[in-house]
Amino acid sequence: MKVTVIGAGYVGLVTGVCLADFGHSVDVIDIDSSRIERLKEGKSPIFEPGIERLITHNLASGRLSFSMDLESAARAASVVFIAVSTPSSDTGEADLRYLFTAVDQMAAILAQHPSETPTILVVKSTVPVGTCTAVRTRLLSAGIGEDRCVVVSNPEFLREGNAIGDCLNPERVVIGSGSAVGFERIKSLYHPYVAREIPFVEVALEAAEHIKYASNAFLAVKISFVNELALLCEKTNTDVLEVARGMGLDGRIGPSFLMPGPGFGGSCFPKDIRALEAVGQKNGVELKLLGAVDSVNKRQKHHVVTQVISRLAGIVSPVVAVLGLAFKANTDDMRDAPALDILPLLIANGAVIQAYDLVAADNARPLLGDQVRYCSSAMAAAAGADVLLILTEWNEFYDIDLMALKAQMRSPTIVDARRVIDPQSAIRAGFSYYGIGRA
Ligand code: UDX
Ligand code: UDX
Repeated sequence: MKVTVIGAGYVGLVTGVCLADFGHSVDVIDIDSSRIERLKEGKSPIFEPGIERLITHNLASGRLSFSMDLESAARAASVVFIAVSTPSSDTGEADLRYLFTAVDQMAAILAQHPSETPTILVVKSTVPVGTCTAVRTRLLSAGIGEDRCVVVSNPEFLREGNAIGDCLNPERVVIGSGSAVGFERIKSLYHPYVAREIPFVEVALEAAEHIKYASNAFLAVKISFVNELALLCEKTNTDVLEVARGMGLDGRIGPSFLMPGPGFGGSCFPKDIRALEAVGQKNGVELKLLGAVDSVNKRQKHHVVTQVISRLAGIVSPVVAVLGLAFKANTDDMRDAPALDILPLLIANGAVIQAYDLVAADNARPLLGDQVRYCSSAMAAAAGADVLLILTEWNEFYDIDLMALKAQMRSPTIVDARRVIDPQSAIRAGFSYYGIGRA
């Protein structure tokens, strides 16, 4: 099948390369020329494990191409994905301007290049309920009816750092459409999922849009729940990890997304919660739980700051080593990373920050600026530090050489906001150790 993907970001690029790997002929389009040039050379503009191998393999096979020319790509495509960003606007609502620009471009292309069968226009970007219907209305007012273009909602559930695995092997595929043609075409596009009996959830457009937000919001509820519980555990001589394990083994609760941390971040949860709250407001339904999830998340970041500051009391020109800047491991993405809130507060409290991240420093620099010293290793970040703060659960931090670390630091203190260090090992090595959610 001939496929076009508009937007070569985390979602569009992963979707495009995986569809090429399924055997389709895929053109990935972006307005960012430097991104496209890199991709043509087989280089990924994002850090995502496994993606570069898939890009080079599918480029070589001739099934995958990258360009800025939407018209050439889309005029003969039978399926067109829109995967442009839908950032938060000032009000918290999803800003849909890039999405509607893509829709208008598609309307013009479809008007100029009529085809015998309808083109399937798939909204992959995360959009609030009602958006796909608005897309249909927009197409209709441009003279493009259902006989020419069928709108489908097919939200993504890709976790950064694991996006290729999630795309090749999803737990479910959600398809929203008002038309049998839409369901059928998407199912034949996703033939490997059908063969592997991965469940398809075929629903109305609105339900598909809601499923995406509801899933992200529910996962965020779990995280804020465990983060709040972590604070209580710290006061009640309990380890939240033990509590979470005991809870998670109940099949009705499940073990995932019960890991305490410095607060959730990333391109989705914070923005999607705000967008869903805005949808609630618009419809006269105050989504009280989401307001609480957001405020617990903010408090969590302040809690981490407080833990660090309290350990710097009395130190002149304190130095904090920060391990990890990205919002989670295995990504270079800094969007809404807890580090963006936590580091400026530490700096405002007089701390000098020496930070190390395996891949995110280049993306962090424009956001955090020169107020942070960027280091090339964990040991370099720890040199002369009074507190070592762990913000991202990169694998290499789990088995860090504690004795070598201690030798680097001015004072051996660890604030572990990800629970990556074994407390007993840290204490045996002579550290003062604080782990989130542990007395
Ligand atoms: C996606 C989504 O689509 C968003 O709705 C979801 O909530 C999170 O995941 P993501 O892939 O992370 O967004 O966005 P980003 O990495 O910013 O990529 C978007 C790409 O679209 C960029 O490469 C940008 O240059 C491109 N773009 C943007 C276009 O090609 N055309 C535009 O008009 C706007
Ligand atoms: C999320 C969703 O999981 C995915 O389905 C959706 O489509 C896009 O948004 P992503 O943001 O890439 O994916 O990462 P995810 O693994 O969900 O983590 C989000 C945030 O929650 C991170 O900051 C992470 O550190 C935090 N988190 C996650 C916790 O603090 N504790 C947990 O137990 C799980």
